[in-house]
Amino acid sequence: MALAISRETIADIKNSVNIVDVIGEVVSLTRSGNNYLGLCPFHKEKTPSFNVVEDKQFFHCFGCGKSGDVFKFLEDYRQISFMESVRLVAERAGITLDLPKQQTVAKANPNQILYDLNSEAAQFYHAILMTTKEGQLARDYLQARGLDEEVLTHFNIGLAPKQPDFLYKALSDKYPNHEEALAQSGLFNIDEASSRLYDAFKNRIMFPLTDDKGRVIAFSGRIWTQQDHEQKQAKYKNTRSTLIFNKSYELYHVDKAKKVAQKTHELYLMEGFMDVIAVYQSGIENAVASMGTALTPEHVRHLSQFTKKVILTYDGDNAGQEAIAKSLELLDSLSVDVVRIPNHMDPDEFLRHNSKEALKQLLEQGRISSTEFYIQHLKPENSDNLQAEIAYVEKMAKLIAQEPSITAQNSYIHKVAELLPDFDYFQVEQAVNNERLISRSNRQKTSQYTQQQVLSPPVSKSLSALMKAEIQLFHRLLHHDYLLQSYRNRLDFTFDTPEIEALYELLCQQGEITSLDLAEISDAERQMYYRVLEERLPDEVASGEIEAIERRREQLLTERDIHKQSKQIRESSNQGDVDGALEALQQLIAQKRNME
Ligand code: CTP
Ligand code: MN
Repeated sequence: MALAISRETIADIKNSVNIVDVIGEVVSLTRSGNNYLGLCPFHKEKTPSFNVVEDKQFFHCFGCGKSGDVFKFLEDYRQISFMESVRLVAERAGITLDLPKQQTVAKANPNQILYDLNSEAAQFYHAILMTTKEGQLARDYLQARGLDEEVLTHFNIGLAPKQPDFLYKALSDKYPNHEEALAQSGLFNIDEASSRLYDAFKNRIMFPLTDDKGRVIAFSGRIWTQQDHEQKQAKYKNTRSTLIFNKSYELYHVDKAKKVAQKTHELYLMEGFMDVIAVYQSGIENAVASMGTALTPEHVRHLSQFTKKVILTYDGDNAGQEAIAKSLELLDSLSVDVVRIPNHMDPDEFLRHNSKEALKQLLEQGRISSTEFYIQHLKPENSDNLQAEIAYVEKMAKLIAQEPSITAQNSYIHKVAELLPDFDYFQVEQAVNNERLISRSNRQKTSQYTQQQVLSPPVSKSLSALMKAEIQLFHRLLHHDYLLQSYRNRLDFTFDTPEIEALYELLCQQGEITSLDLAEISDAERQMYYRVLEERLPDEVASGEIEAIERRREQLLTERDIHKQSKQIRESSNQGDVDGALEALQQLIAQKRNME
């Protein structure tokens, strides 16, 4: 990371605030002993396991394992970069950072110009909608669809005028030497004959698409005049793929929805952006939609960055229901509930036929599990077809057997039996029991396999004792410079625990570990760092303390070697490798002697 602010300044900034105040603004904290406790903002929990340690100025969640200092908290809570979090804290503390703007954007994205052009375009379109005569008519159309000014502003909706080169004129004026960028922006098409650029969108209501950071990267434009409707123009037209717009990855409204999802821990996934806009009006702000494509694995990866739970809210028509089934397969790494909109409507139509309150209630209380969705969706049409019924029961039995709660299993069995004229509860239950047995025996096979692979208990026990000893030792090195100096001179000294060793190397190189380092090291290393800090040792190093830890560490290391070697002897002699066994045995004896 190229440093725009010195380490000292970063340390000053950190010291100028109290982490308890910063976190306390967004998490309700109560004092508990030396620390503060609250509900973790990074995972869903009912009992508080999120700790803020005031004297050491860090947080740690025992539930999800997240830990860090004030900068790390802001980074994760606000989804911003380390430098942005430093800036925020500085601002709060009233420390002015003398950073020439250039310096911070110098490393900026080579595609910056494409973001600028798209953002300018969004501003133009929005201004046309909100302030012109032509815009007034379009606003009437939107008003009739229930979109008021607040909604138009929140979603930055605009209007591309009829004039074929309105945007081109405006942007080429403002960016005279950027013909290539204009051509790459996705905002214009090229006329082959004259090789001139003209606006890609004409006479359409414009919905800007933003990326995670809120930058405009593309548009979708909807026809709105009677004439275009009669001429059967495509209802929606989207920006083609560009260097900044990958339609298989991007999600409409994700920049705003992800912030709400941090609190609700779930995201609604919808088919169209008019649906996202509709549910926003009923107070649901954590909804996203793909842009004119079916869901892809890339979308799923994108969603997983912000939530573990998705509520699929597709159109109630047949196409929508088929799309749910397809998407459920792709979303198998997440927990998914389904909302089925009645009477073949989409969320937007449901809102218009009912009310904001009714839509909110449907989305919050009308959810069914994915298993329940399949029970309804796959039900055979023809109730005389026994073959189809059997196939259906077998498929459902597989799904139901995977359900962790027995109560839920029973209720699903009931539902399936009720739907079928030729099956009763016990017959369906029998099918589920068969599946339970199959999956249990599969599980046992895999667990036997993994048991052979993991270390046997005594070794793992001595390992953790070893880690404890190393944590204590590293704690002392971190806080007592004279000890660090003497260890630095022992060139052959290394910690056995890889995370501690990495931290130790950093400490030796720099003499300290700063916030900046903590922002750059791996999660495992950072967690280890705070584990070390959490170790409550008296400030003074007791006489003989270090020697005692060292002896204990040595002993544990030797024990582990002996254990390894005994194992090797057993294996060698099992395989008839007498020489190997003998050699290992000799090493073992030598070691035992050393210990005595
Ligand atoms: N879509 C598209 N091109 C079309 C039709 C649809 O790209 N010609 C995409 C758009 O992203 C749209 C989504 O598919 O948001 C859902 O389409 P549809 O259900 O037809 O649109 P609605 O959301 O119902 O929009 P409206 O209410 O304005 O008709
Ligand atoms: Mn619609």
